[in-house]
Amino acid sequence: MVIAPHTIEPMISAQDIAARVAQLATEITTYFHDTRGLVVVGLLRGSFIFVADLVRALDLPIEIDFLEASSYGDMTNSNRNVRILKDLRGDIAGRDVLIVEDIVDTGFTLNHVLALLRTRSPNRLEVCALLDKPARREVDITAKWTGFTIPDAFVVGYGIDFAQANRNLPYIGQVRFVP
Ligand code: IMP
Repeated sequence: MVIAPHTIEPMISAQDIAARVAQLATEITTYFHDTRGLVVVGLLRGSFIFVADLVRALDLPIEIDFLEASSYGDMTNSNRNVRILKDLRGDIAGRDVLIVEDIVDTGFTLNHVLALLRTRSPNRLEVCALLDKPARREVDITAKWTGFTIPDAFVVGYGIDFAQANRNLPYIGQVRFVP
């Protein structure tokens, strides 16, 4: 695939991300303090770095599972036909579950995943999203915990890609297309 010429402008620094992840972990630890074991469900692929940092800051007994839902392809528009490409390995019936998402954009992906996981009768089912783009929301949905609310911009880094590139940037940057 040919990627249109673009530059990446820093938006959220690695230091600011780390500080926010620590705060989120404290809040999540308090909320689930009485859990017998929290199942942290990372939505692949964009959340993999966030999940890795967040779980190391949680002071709770946890398990990790992953789910992959299709949304974007390689374009900057959402595909509303959300499909499950990789399902959970474990049974979540009666379990406390935390879905960890990179970005809530239109909300279609999260809405679909929440509806699916609710059918499996978890005990508590909550969402932590690193980024929220409320300006683009089409489904009325919000994560219980959000790292940063950002404007309508296409971002990369800290696990988040543009056509599979730039996931390894340690910060969040805004993609700017060069005319
Ligand atoms: P939604 O279904 O529109 O909420 O889309 C959510 C998914 O779209 C996220 O999990 C990301 O994978 C992807 N996405 C949304 N915004 C961006 C962005 O700015 N950069 C890269 N991926 C994005």
